Amino acid sequence: MTKLAKVRFLKLDLEKIATVDGRVVICVSPSGKLNNISRHVDKLTNGAVTRLINDREFKTSKGGRVYTITWPTGLKAEALDVLVVETRMKSAVVRQVGAALGKLKGKMPLNFFLRSSQFAQDLIMGICLRNYCFARYKKEKNETLGDVIIHSLQPEKAKLATKPLLAVADGVVTTRDFVNEPANHLTTTEFAKRLELMSNFGLDVTVLDEAALASLGMNMLLSVGRGSDTPSKVIILKWNGASSDVDPLILVGKGVVFDSGGISLKPAAGMHDMKMDMAGAAVVAGVMSTLAQRKAKANVIGIVGLVENMPSGCAMRPGDVVTSLKGDTVEIINTDAEGRLVLGDLLSYAQNTFSPQAIIDLATLTGAVIISLGHEHAGVFSNNDKLCGAFLNAAAVEGEGAWRLPLSPSYDKLLKSKVADFKNIGGREAGAITAAQFLQRFVSQDCPWIHLDIAGVSFRNMDTDFAPHGATGWGVMSLNRLIMDNFEGT
Ligand code: BES
Ligand code: MN
Ligand code: ZN
Repeated sequence: MTKLAKVRFLKLDLEKIATVDGRVVICVSPSGKLNNISRHVDKLTNGAVTRLINDREFKTSKGGRVYTITWPTGLKAEALDVLVVETRMKSAVVRQVGAALGKLKGKMPLNFFLRSSQFAQDLIMGICLRNYCFARYKKEKNETLGDVIIHSLQPEKAKLATKPLLAVADGVVTTRDFVNEPANHLTTTEFAKRLELMSNFGLDVTVLDEAALASLGMNMLLSVGRGSDTPSKVIILKWNGASSDVDPLILVGKGVVFDSGGISLKPAAGMHDMKMDMAGAAVVAGVMSTLAQRKAKANVIGIVGLVENMPSGCAMRPGDVVTSLKGDTVEIINTDAEGRLVLGDLLSYAQNTFSPQAIIDLATLTGAVIISLGHEHAGVFSNNDKLCGAFLNAAAVEGEGAWRLPLSPSYDKLLKSKVADFKNIGGREAGAITAAQFLQRFVSQDCPWIHLDIAGVSFRNMDTDFAPHGATGWGVMSLNRLIMDNFEGT
């Protein structure tokens, strides 16, 4: 699994500025007022900092700008990065500065000389997120950064404050690794094995195999995996960080390791991207790993349904009628609308087995949500304004796009079936909403619930601010924050 950049903390020593390798990073305010660090660097570089802040262009720069002076006189370092910082900068802006540095390659260390460590956490977060590289299957490794070294006045304090943040960054990277992994390697069996290893962090892991799922009655979920040679599985990850009388928050994830569409086969163009159809499960795994690593004081249960949607002689057919765990019958019109079949049974199972305080499901559920919101916002559906508001707030703080879309019984008529209780697709119109309406049938009205359609935000075919092309890890940070702010005992 991909490792985060190594972060070290040292006591600030001005004498080291001239002699460290790699890059030297310092901060100045937009007013151009120098502190003892920038003054020292200015002296060493024969006034380079003063010349920079006297430049016309600098006078218009805002917090978040980075100026780079390469091969600066007087320093051993190959570059001097001058960050413009304002006293009140939003976390997201500071992270972006970190990400701009995290994009650099070449194994060189980054030496931050900071008076206060006010911005250290967000800088580190930005670096760790953007410095990610999935090079597992390449001979030629895309070189990442060397160590990140924070030279500050109180290194122990900074180190302690950074620990929970690194747990979050590690969760994001865990999610990305799962999502980027090709489906011939990350089969349901392999995915389950890797999740079982997470018991090393203190998670309680249970695996339900096909026999167990059949005796429970999860026929809707099982019908999706029928055509595949890799067996369907449901994995339950428990983190008990609060007292046992606190009802758990349950996270449910769609883990379709590959979605060919099944008998309703997808077109060839772009089908390879469907190795990412397990991103919901990967986010659940990432969040659970973060909670365990930072020893969150919350009770959270992750439930993921691992299946592969393939065509074969045993595959589910269009026209089939399957009986859900809940007891409703569903007419399969299109075998490519498989995610909702997996999630429907998991939602019933979650409510039957545990008494959840709330349920949040994540799924790369519909192409329609990408038509609605593109790749910048996940679709958010909820039956509970309070929980939904708290989530949207957490996502805004973390800078992960999320936009609420409606649920309404008026869409239900689109799911009417002539032969079963309802059918599995509603047609082209409002495709993300009818999928959410389908799921809502499996959620009790008094259980606060959010459905996150992450089809557009989980995987990008280009670099973004915080990730290279491929998996983004969207959702780990928002869910971690939601839990931190709303589900942890005070
Ligand atoms: N996994 C797909 C949705 C998807 C599309 C995820 C693009 C990521 C990127 C899902 O299982 C699917 O195939 N949905 C169909 C539903 C349709 C048949 C009603 C879709 O969106 O086309
Ligand atoms: Mn599909
Ligand atoms: Zn799918």
